[in-house]
Amino acid sequence: MIYLDNAATTFPKPDSVWEAVVDCGRNSCGNPGRSGHPLAAAAAREIFAAREALAEFFNAGDSSRIVFTCNATMALNTALYGYLTDGGHVITSSMEHNSVMRPLHTLQQQGRITLTVVPCSPRGELDPDDVKRAVQADTRLVVLTHASNVCGTIFPVADVKQRLPEVPLLVDAAQTAGALPIDIVQSGIDMLAFAGHKGLLGPMGTGGLYVAPSLRLAPVMQGGTGSRSEDLAHPGFMPDALEAGTPNVPGVCGLHAGVRFLQETGVATVRAHEMSLTRLLIDGLAGHDRIRIHGPADPARQTAVVSVTINGRDPGAIARSLDRDFGIACRASLHCAPLAHQTLGTCPEGTVRLSMSYFNTLDDMQQAVRALHAIAEQEEA
Ligand SMILES: Cc1ncc(COP(=O)(O)O)c(C=O)c1O
Repeated sequence: MIYLDNAATTFPKPDSVWEAVVDCGRNSCGNPGRSGHPLAAAAAREIFAAREALAEFFNAGDSSRIVFTCNATMALNTALYGYLTDGGHVITSSMEHNSVMRPLHTLQQQGRITLTVVPCSPRGELDPDDVKRAVQADTRLVVLTHASNVCGTIFPVADVKQRLPEVPLLVDAAQTAGALPIDIVQSGIDMLAFAGHKGLLGPMGTGGLYVAPSLRLAPVMQGGTGSRSEDLAHPGFMPDALEAGTPNVPGVCGLHAGVRFLQETGVATVRAHEMSLTRLLIDGLAGHDRIRIHGPADPARQTAVVSVTINGRDPGAIARSLDRDFGIACRASLHCAPLAHQTLGTCPEGTVRLSMSYFNTLDDMQQAVRALHAIAEQEEA
C-alpha cells in the first residue's frame, strides 16, 4: 500500500515510537503524580521529559505551559471554552477545521460570543490585513489554522500577530506541528493546539496545548490531578489546571520518541523532503486537462497536502479506485472542513486529498500521478 492519508494521521511511525510505547508499558507505566512508588515516579519522569522536549521543540519557554490532550480537537476545545468564558468577539477564517468551527458555532448559537469569519481567497489564502480590518472594540481572540487540512495553504500567522499584538492568537497547528518550524516566542503565538499523531509522529490519542503565561484558562474538565488532593477546588496552577485525570503515559512516551526523531532528523530536512514530494505530485498532475489542483499548487506556500478533482468524477469514486485498483490510500470528500470547500469552490462533493509524510518516496508520487492520469483517462473513454 502507498499511504497518502498522512493529514489524517501519519503512517508509518518511526520504529522508535512503538519501542518507546512498549518500553513504557513494561517499565514505567504507573500513574504519575498519584503514588510515591518507583513505577509512578518513572511515569512522572517520562511525562516531564516529554513536556520539556515539546517546550524545546516549539521554543515555548516554561514547559509547564504545555498540557497533554488526547488530540488537537481536545486542545482546541480546551482553549476555546477555557478562554472565552466572558464572551466577546472572535475572529476566525473560512478555512478552519470543524474542531475550531463547531465549538465557535456552538458558543455563537448560545449567545456567548459574536463571530467574524474572514473570507479567504479561492486558493485558501488569508490576507492578514483582512484580519486586522475585522477587529472590533471587544475582540478577545483570533483563531487561525496554521495550514489548511484540505489544500495545505500555509497561513501567515506571525504576520497576523505582528498587526494585532494586543489580541490573543490561538493557532491550530494540527497540520503543521512537526512539518513546519514553529517558534512560539518568535511568532508571538499565545495558544498553540497540536496533534501528537500527525507530523509529530506520535501514537493516536496524543496531542497538546501551549498556553502563554499571560493567559489563564478555566478548566473544561476537573478531577484527579494527584496534586492538592485535600482541596475540593481544582488546582489553578499549570499544567495541572488543564490536565485532569490519568494521562496517556505510553502515548506520551511514543510522542516524545516522535519528537526526538524530528529533532535528530531536523524539521528543515523533513520540510525539504515533503516539498520535493509535493513538487513532483503537482508537476505530474498540472499538465492533465481533466485534473484540477485546488489550493496554491506551490510547494513553498503549502504543506504536503494536495487536493484534486477530476472533471465530472465523484471524489469518493476516485478514492475507491485509487485504493482498489492502485493500492493508494487517501481521503475524499469534505475533510471535516465544509467552509474551506465553500471557499475553494469544491462544495458539495469535495476533493480527493493526497497527503504525504517524510516516509513517502519520489516513486510513491510517480505511482500516484500515473494512477490519477489513468483514472482521468478511463472516464474520458
Ligand atoms: C486543521 C485541523 N485541525 C484540527 C484537527 C483535529 O485533529 P485531531 O484529529 O487530532 O483531533 C485536524 C485533523 O485532521 C486538522 O486537520
